[in-house]
Amino acid sequence: MRMTVIGTGYLGATHAVAMAELGHEVLGVDVDQAKIDLLSAGQVPFHEPGLSELLGKHVATGAVRFTTSYEEAGAFGDVHFIGVGTPQKRNGHAADMTYVDSAVEQISRAATHDCVIAGKSTVPVGSAARLQELALTSAPSGTRVSLVWNPEFLREGHAVEDTLRPDRMVLGLEYDDAGRPTSAAQAAEAVLREVYAHQLEAGIPFIVTDYATAELVKVAANSFLAIKISFINALSEITETVGGDIRTLADAIGLDERIGRKFLNAGVGFGGGCLPKDIRALRARASELGLDQSLRFLAEVDDINLRRREYTVQLAVQECGGSLHGTQIAVLGAAFKPESDDVRDSPALDIAARLHSMGADVRLYDPQANANAAQRYPRLDYVASLDAAVTGAQVTLLLTEWREFRDMDPRHVASLVGTPTIIDGRNVLDPAAWQDAGWRYLALGRRH
Ligand SMILES: NC(=O)c1ccc[n+]([C@@H]2O[C@H](COP(=O)([O-])OP(=O)(O)OC[C@H]3O[C@@H](n4cnc5c(N)ncnc54)[C@H](O)[C@@H]3O)[C@@H](O)[C@H]2O)c1
Repeated sequence: MRMTVIGTGYLGATHAVAMAELGHEVLGVDVDQAKIDLLSAGQVPFHEPGLSELLGKHVATGAVRFTTSYEEAGAFGDVHFIGVGTPQKRNGHAADMTYVDSAVEQISRAATHDCVIAGKSTVPVGSAARLQELALTSAPSGTRVSLVWNPEFLREGHAVEDTLRPDRMVLGLEYDDAGRPTSAAQAAEAVLREVYAHQLEAGIPFIVTDYATAELVKVAANSFLAIKISFINALSEITETVGGDIRTLADAIGLDERIGRKFLNAGVGFGGGCLPKDIRALRARASELGLDQSLRFLAEVDDINLRRREYTVQLAVQECGGSLHGTQIAVLGAAFKPESDDVRDSPALDIAARLHSMGADVRLYDPQANANAAQRYPRLDYVASLDAAVTGAQVTLLLTEWREFRDMDPRHVASLVGTPTIIDGRNVLDPAAWQDAGWRYLALGRRH
């Protein structure tokens, strides 16, 4: 099938390449000319394992191409996926829908034939119904543009696999007043079933529902994950005071299959371009709907998460004798999670910046995210290796759990630092091994 993917960032570039891998003809569209030039040359503008090989393969055959032209896209595609950003508004907690609105309007206006728009961006509930209207009023007369919502669940670091073999797919359709899909929506569903024929044959669950449910599934999933992380981090605050082992606690409750062990790792908390803004946007939307109380607890989830950053900073201050002025601090990690170079709302980078603002000389090393981090906080000292970051350091903080950091040899690192004090912000090191190598080992969720 011929399709376009509008917005070629983390989501869109991956989706475009994955659609080509499924045998479709794909045109990626973005307003960022530099990004389009890189992608057209077969280069991925961000770090995502496995993506560059697939992009190279499909750029070479012409199965995937890239453009900044909506006219070209409107003439080319039978299906248009929308993958533009929905960041937090500058002056509030709600999602900024400017980019989605603009993309839907422009592609509808440029459509030269009947087509389906499939929204993948994470949007506030109620958006799809509004955007279907926008599409209809923007499209040339006689051209039918049907809009469906098909939220994306990929995880950065596993994006290719998650796009090709997701654990479920969700499709939101326009329903009529009787609570059934309209005939146009049924036709659009048939088109999406053709797009995802491989996944459907493989038995991947495909949940077809109304717009509101589809929109809510995405933010509900992210909110639930955020709740799990903040739950264990709230318990960290208790074990930091009374003692106890937060990792054993997580293991023990995680063995209950109703709870599960995933997303129960105590540490500096969640970040990235999704979880923080999605829980805030969901609360903001509930508030707009007059349902403030329903999701008020998400404010607490957010607060617990942000408190972990402050606590980590205070731990470093305490280890430096009450002041960071003139101290040398090694920060390991800037990305919000390993296998990604994404530093949006990253706890690691936020903590590094706060340490710097309090007078510390911060040497930061991330295996992939140094360049992105330097764009955001140019004044930190970014170094090209783990050894360079830790040499002479008074305190070392592990803030993103890259394998390179999890596998560090405590004796080797001890031979480089000024003072062997480590704050394990992700609870991934073996405390005994580090203590045996002469380290003062501190971690979130431990009493010190
Ligand atoms: N990154 C993820 O892991 C992930 C996972 C699931 C869902 N999402 C959701 O997907 C959406 C995109 O996220 P992302 O991380 O890929 O963002 P991103 O910032 O990496 O990419 C967005 C892209 O859209 C482009 N863009 C903006 N306005 C445009 C327009 N009018 N026309 C064409 N292109 C335009 C930007 O230039 C940018 O390249 C968000 O709603 C996000 O919540 C992201």
